[in-house]
Amino acid sequence: MPKLPPVPRTASESLITRADRVLMSTYARVPLAFTAGKGCRLTDVEGRSYLDLTSGFGVCCLGHGHPRLVVALQRQAGQLIQVSNLFYTEPMVAVAERLVAHSFGDRVFFCNSGAEANEGAIKLARKQSNDGHGPGRYRVLAFTPSFHGRTLATLSATGQTKVQHGFEPLVDGFDHAPYGDLAAAEVALGDAHCAILVEPILGESGVVVPPPGFLAGLRRLADARGLTLIFDCIQTGMGRTGKLFAYEHEGVTPDVMTLAKGLGGGPPIGAVVATEALAAHFTPGSHGSTFAANPLVCAAAAVVLDELLDGGVLDDAAANGAYFRTGLEALATRYPEIREVRGRGLMLGLLFHKPAAPVLDGLREEGVIALPAGPDVVRLLPPLILSRAEIDEALGALDKVLSSAIEP
Ligand SMILES: Cc1ncc(COP(=O)(O)O)c(C=O)c1O
Repeated sequence: MPKLPPVPRTASESLITRADRVLMSTYARVPLAFTAGKGCRLTDVEGRSYLDLTSGFGVCCLGHGHPRLVVALQRQAGQLIQVSNLFYTEPMVAVAERLVAHSFGDRVFFCNSGAEANEGAIKLARKQSNDGHGPGRYRVLAFTPSFHGRTLATLSATGQTKVQHGFEPLVDGFDHAPYGDLAAAEVALGDAHCAILVEPILGESGVVVPPPGFLAGLRRLADARGLTLIFDCIQTGMGRTGKLFAYEHEGVTPDVMTLAKGLGGGPPIGAVVATEALAAHFTPGSHGSTFAANPLVCAAAAVVLDELLDGGVLDDAAANGAYFRTGLEALATRYPEIREVRGRGLMLGLLFHKPAAPVLDGLREEGVIALPAGPDVVRLLPPLILSRAEIDEALGALDKVLSSAIEP
């Protein structure tokens, strides 16, 4: 007789059982089901509260249920949700104006996700090269490791075989050099290259800040060879690293950057921000997206930009990121299993000498959720509104988990 599945005992278990019947198994989900969020806290279906150091993969930069974000979404939903890019709306223009005013860029193309933003940037670089040099110069140099998305082109750009395995043949035109190795990048570049694509700080691949001079060196290489320099700022953008965009730490600007995640503080929105010279190669019909730039998501992005730039969130994130880091470094001096504290601002990583999964499980028991970044890194991407008291709470939970792990 076939074995019957166990009868779920809790509301979470019941939801998980239903999910396992109907959702594709693309995620190794944590057995938690959330119903509500406020500030940096999430509530699960049993009513337990968790300190959220994930912010939905770095998206909810203003935390959960931010009053201004909620009101703006409610108001915009009642007014106008979608008209398509055949027409103009105030929110799309206002957000593009602010992105242009606060970056190197002159023009914005909106889209719906990070992968879509990277697709747009890659297409733009190819289009410019094709317009100027003809079809043979189309290759993009990316890095190993890296993460640029899950569409066929962006997984081909991603420097991680586990993301690519089973989806071959990959999209032609992507080469990889080791992240941080400028000399290797120079050797890897040939006459068929039109662009360099790089994360200013590696996110998924372990929260790695590149060696000083790496991004500046890529800028020089791109200039010397007439290549488009693309910064994938999807994880590092929108204040995550304590500056609005991570390239500001290095004083190096790209020709085009991609944004998503925190741009809308929750609703799905991405953007390609480019110089005038580059953007000129997108003409009517060259690129598009049905949902992109709809007034609802742009109303959210307008609030995010206001709060970051005028509401003090960016400054707080920089100061609190430094405070968090100091606390993590103090823990690292006490627990030798911590190999390194990494990151910038509120994009932080703890590299362990051992697998990170038990630390994440222990934190969850303590009511704190965090992310992995590879097998041995705990990644912290909290809302940018995380307070000092909440940082102390997170450090206390880590201390407890690490001290119990080394007890005999
Ligand atoms: C640096 C980077 N690029 C691209 C992506 C892909 O973004 P999305 O999942 O919105 O397509 C991610 C997502 O984690 C990312 O961190």
